[in-house]
Amino acid sequence: MGSAVRMRRGVVTGAGSGIGKAVATRMLREGVDVLAVDIDARKLAELAAAGCEIMGVDLADESGRATLAEAAAGADYLVNSHGVILVKSIFDVSIEDWRRIQAVNAESVFFLCQQIGPRMKPGGAIVNLSSSSSKLASTVEVAPYAASKTTILSITRSFAYALASRPVRVNAICPGIVDTPMQDNVLAGVSTLRRTEVAALEEARTRAVPLGRAASADECAGAIWFLLSDEAAYMTGQAVNFTGGMVTW
Ligand SMILES: NC(=O)c1ccc[n+]([C@@H]2O[C@H](COP(=O)([O-])OP(=O)(O)OC[C@H]3O[C@@H](n4cnc5c(N)ncnc54)[C@H](O)[C@@H]3O)[C@@H](O)[C@H]2O)c1
Repeated sequence: MGSAVRMRRGVVTGAGSGIGKAVATRMLREGVDVLAVDIDARKLAELAAAGCEIMGVDLADESGRATLAEAAAGADYLVNSHGVILVKSIFDVSIEDWRRIQAVNAESVFFLCQQIGPRMKPGGAIVNLSSSSSKLASTVEVAPYAASKTTILSITRSFAYALASRPVRVNAICPGIVDTPMQDNVLAGVSTLRRTEVAALEEARTRAVPLGRAASADECAGAIWFLLSDEAAYMTGQAVNFTGGMVTW
């Protein structure tokens, strides 16, 4: 009698676009059952057609998170890739701006780890999307975003410790420039703020990357898959750079 291969189950937030979509697609390719989640369910149609289960919920909302936590019980993998960015001068940021960015990007990740982590399969893993902006000072145009991504590093360390005995591993990845719709928004926002051309801005940013280019979402999904997989079985609580050499600490 052949032994049955146990199906693994993965939950990916922000799966409607960019890195989250690439992670969900990678998981499908690895034979994982995927629950793809986004605030905008229309963006999940392609993944549904490819075989993902889908869920449209606002993860900044407590009831949205509760619905997901219920559905995610028993998962092997959780990737928190949802997020929003605000490009605004640090001196113009309002309290509403600040609260919204922290709620979507940081508060939600804390409570998703809290509510889903203890119900995951032993041996499972979580990857939280931080950013190279968590380690840089030159973030005056995205300060609330950078603060939220720094908070994610602390959340990651705390839950890595809290869930280690299960064991569920918890790591963060810190991408630099990944070619996604969010990156297009950043370039458009910064070019307006600085009154410069998008093309010139893009060129200057690429020059700052030692490897000389942006990453694709699929490449980033590859690094995330490594952190989820047993290849990274001894890694937890880490903030792994994915920056083409732009950040090395
Ligand atoms: N692209 C980059 O260069 C880059 C660099 C560093 C970090 N990141 C981080 O990686 C993650 C993915 O980024 P991306 O570039 O793929 O962005 P993206 O904008 O392409 O995708 C983000 C997705 O999150 C969803 N989302 C937003 N708010 C939500 C909410 N409240 N509830 C549920 N879903 C919500 C959006 O609808 C969208 O589909 C983000 O956390 C981002 O901060 C991206």
